[in-house]
Amino acid sequence: MTTPHEYAQANAERFREQYKELIRIPSISTLPDHAPDVQRAAEWLAEHMRQAGFETAEIIKMPEGRHPLVLGQWNGAGPDAPTVLLYCHYDVQPAVVEDGWVTPPFEPTEKGERLYARGAVDSKLHVMSQLKACESLLQTGGSPVNLKLILEGEEESGSENINAFVDAHGDRLRADYCAISDGTILDPAQPSLVYALRGIIAMELHVSGPAQDLHSGHYGGSVHNPIQALAEIIAQLHDANGTVTVPGFYDAVIAADADERAQLAKANEWTEREWQRVAHAPQPWGEAEYNIHERVGLRPTLELNGITGGFTGPGFKTVLPQKAMAKISCRLVADQDPDEIFDLIQTYLAQITPPTVRSELIKMEPGAKAAVLGHTSRAMQAAARAYEQGWGARPIFERAGGSIPITYTFQKVADEVVIMGFGYKSGQAHGPNENIYLHSLHRGIDTAIYFLQEVGAQ
Ligand code: BES
Ligand code: ZN
Repeated sequence: MTTPHEYAQANAERFREQYKELIRIPSISTLPDHAPDVQRAAEWLAEHMRQAGFETAEIIKMPEGRHPLVLGQWNGAGPDAPTVLLYCHYDVQPAVVEDGWVTPPFEPTEKGERLYARGAVDSKLHVMSQLKACESLLQTGGSPVNLKLILEGEEESGSENINAFVDAHGDRLRADYCAISDGTILDPAQPSLVYALRGIIAMELHVSGPAQDLHSGHYGGSVHNPIQALAEIIAQLHDANGTVTVPGFYDAVIAADADERAQLAKANEWTEREWQRVAHAPQPWGEAEYNIHERVGLRPTLELNGITGGFTGPGFKTVLPQKAMAKISCRLVADQDPDEIFDLIQTYLAQITPPTVRSELIKMEPGAKAAVLGHTSRAMQAAARAYEQGWGARPIFERAGGSIPITYTFQKVADEVVIMGFGYKSGQAHGPNENIYLHSLHRGIDTAIYFLQEVGAQ
């Protein structure tokens, strides 16, 4: 009798080819032109769920212009066995060669031990790891737990619809355990379990002044330039220590105790090394009383993501612009509420906008709350044993700075939630030349199988 791990090993080459097939579908959720590709990826996944042995695989349509969920179910373990909800996202960030790609972003290219492509790590690595773990169990006598595999097509664009779907149809996803598969571990030799993710709220700050663009000779010196006013406003959002100055911003933040900070100090060794290698800015910046891991995982931020205004073409134009705009997003920690944070920022901006210009703050997405998951749950223990077997070392605990907007909501449908990432930070998620080490796909499949076996044995 073949074991699931033997099956995965015997089919490794086919799994790798199918992973590449999925990558070739540019399922970019943030660009409307790619909606047909996202749909095609959903159909590909539903078909592969059926082939893997799922009893049902359905495509759940979302409102016009948005992207479907794919839900596979298998209930062969029976009513007394636990049910596990597995989540991944199959949409990806945009990518064009001009961003600095060395190879075409949607043509997976193997070089040495790595494979380069958009979505390679974020998050088709996780989609295929979970799907192929399920296949390996279902094709070798069945899974010890009932399975619900849900794949989202708009995680990279805010997860508005899956949050609404779970609120309305939570019973369909009800599970004993939920594993959200996405993200990274600290190092190939040091796996880690992420127990906290930050939330998010995104906005645009519009500043306007004169009725139209003006001649900077006729009016310069008499009109408050909106770009300058915008710069003066945003320069007041942090103090010299990097702390956000918006009144009330930190009021709801739950502080970490000494035990937790001692644990995070361990993870910080890797975070600092990785910061030097990947971020590689002249010097670290930010709140002096926190180490880099804490600045990213434990503390909320207010970040400027982009700024526009005036004339930026070649040559010069003596214009005094009518308006300027900055895109801002905040990474949130427990227990900050996205809407309350937006209101606090709006109030503060109204106070510091000089009377010489007008400002308006616009909310971009509904936002998401941060999630903090228990260290000691049975699911977390099962995940730790799974990494130990699949990656060969006991994982340590870390906080991640990114957001998976459904995480908070999934705590309402599953008794215990864990996050299982198989990427590395060197994988350049969202950037050019995104990549994985090919071993990550096979270790990911193995680790995912071990997890299901571990929760099934409890
Ligand atoms: N995979 C990331 C989130 C992540 C990063 C999880 C690091 C764990 C560790 C995810 O695909 C992502 O990029 N999410 C977006 C969400 C946003 C668009 C609402 C993010 O964090 O920017
Ligand atoms: Zn992402």
